[in-house]
Amino acid sequence: MPHFLIPLLLASTYAGVPYYNIEKEIKMKDGKSLHGSNKLSFNSTAIYTLLILLSFYIGYFYAASSSSSSTADNNDNNLPDSPLATTTATATAMTLPAELDNFRASPNCAANPLPTRQIRQTLIDRVYGGTSPFSDFPPPHVAGSLRHKCLKGWGSTTPVFRHLLEEVRPEVIIEVGTFLGASTVHMAKLARELGLDDTVILCIDDFRGWAGFREEFPFIKQVNGAVTLLYQFMQNAVYTNVTDSVLPLPFSAGSTLSVLCEWGVTADLIEIDAGHEFTSIWSDLNRAYRLLRPGGVMFGHDYFLVGDRRSVRRAVHLFAQMYGHTVQIDGQHWVLRTS
Ligand SMILES: *[C@@H]1O[C@H](CO)[C@@H](O)[C@H](O)[C@H]1NC(C)=O
Repeated sequence: MPHFLIPLLLASTYAGVPYYNIEKEIKMKDGKSLHGSNKLSFNSTAIYTLLILLSFYIGYFYAASSSSSSTADNNDNNLPDSPLATTTATATAMTLPAELDNFRASPNCAANPLPTRQIRQTLIDRVYGGTSPFSDFPPPHVAGSLRHKCLKGWGSTTPVFRHLLEEVRPEVIIEVGTFLGASTVHMAKLARELGLDDTVILCIDDFRGWAGFREEFPFIKQVNGAVTLLYQFMQNAVYTNVTDSVLPLPFSAGSTLSVLCEWGVTADLIEIDAGHEFTSIWSDLNRAYRLLRPGGVMFGHDYFLVGDRRSVRRAVHLFAQMYGHTVQIDGQHWVLRTS
């Protein structure tokens, strides 16, 4: 499908929601004068639909024109939403709650959740055929391409990590979006410092960066086109001595979260920091939430991101609304506590 049709499709899906709500409400309140009510409902619906369509198009073109530079996205202050987009977003949010139930995934993944102590070995068995990926690392054909340590990240050592590890004292952490592992290593060291010696950190990332990644990270080598991000991450884990607690799961976030769900893996703390486009973070939130233990905490970076019409904030708030949670902020991170 051509990309420019996607917002239209989304817009028409969402546009149906206010139409349905308004009509139902009017019918229930005033069953006798349906004729007049329908007319009113049609007019307001038409305006509604138009506004929402407009806002999606403005949002789409706005995001397309501002998404080329990811560093600009981190600039919180200079790009206010257009007034139209703000107004319609509020209006949409007000009419959505009754329909949000339709989007809720089944919350329980496995009938028999895996005991915490078995999670790491089960994953080594099922994903790696019983051998830790760290054994005999690094393989000779990439050894020459790796740096001893390369831990670039974004907000990877901010206080939120300490706050949450102290509060949750997690036995299992799932990180969606690991990259070079800066926050992974930070969490592994914090866990050790807090005496959480058995804490496992599952790192979900396809470890391929993104198309155009090479232009920003020329020092991460490609071997016959394959990005060596996985190996550099693993090298970082070896160098910082966290291989006992960290386990990479080098596949797409969507498929991995679904498989973990099927295998009964659950977590106390989940960090969502992969793709930041609305559809991407929305999917990660929904899939990851099913793995969260009751009372667990989900959190992620870039709450103040302005790109894609503040995609992170939109997705997190819509999600929180859907499950009745409150969004809390810690630095640049959003935090959803389920207890
Ligand atoms: C590496 O970590 C392990 C715990 O996982 C610890 O027992 C060992 O002393 C550490 N080694 C160094 C050199 O710090």
